[in-house]
Amino acid sequence: MHLEELNSKIANCHKCFLHKDRTQAVPGSGNSKAEIMFIGEAPGKSEDEQGKPFVGAAGKFLNELLQSIGLERKDVYIANTVKCRPPDNRDPRPEEIKTCLPYLKKQILIIQPKVIATLGRFSMNLFFPELKISQAHGKIQTKNNLCIVPLYHPAAALYNGSQREVHLRDFQVLKTLIDKMKNKK
Ligand code: URA
Repeated sequence: MHLEELNSKIANCHKCFLHKDRTQAVPGSGNSKAEIMFIGEAPGKSEDEQGKPFVGAAGKFLNELLQSIGLERKDVYIANTVKCRPPDNRDPRPEEIKTCLPYLKKQILIIQPKVIATLGRFSMNLFFPELKISQAHGKIQTKNNLCIVPLYHPAAALYNGSQREVHLRDFQVLKTLIDKMKNKK
């Protein structure tokens, strides 16, 4: 299956109640051949309006973080755990995450990233239900031949300025990993 075909399935999905309140689904965006894939939580208001992930305030900070390690949005692929905005930006519910998971699995199969960076606890817990983000952030994990780097959600720094440094440090871990992979090629 191609990404376009999958995106159109997601755009027309009615599998959970989140479709009722959405303006549009937000399948994901970026480089379909990316070696690095980021997985956030769920679209917010701006994402729901524009149909693209991380275009609001958290997205601005994510762009800064990417820039800090020499990357741009066009170099990576960005998706979310659930593809439709939960009303009032509430947390996605376990049954919504479960219903949406096959789409994320297909995205991973199509893109075949070498590294997955999870943004926040929801996407991290998809791979490692037992991990706590406060302990696992910035520590490289492996699962099913995939390298997974749990990162804090960029929105965390919007409410707590001192978090910025932690984010920047964790992104350096990602950079070191990417540089190592490049040298192995
Ligand atoms: N937060 C997310 O987790 N995803 C988005 O797309 C935007 C904000």
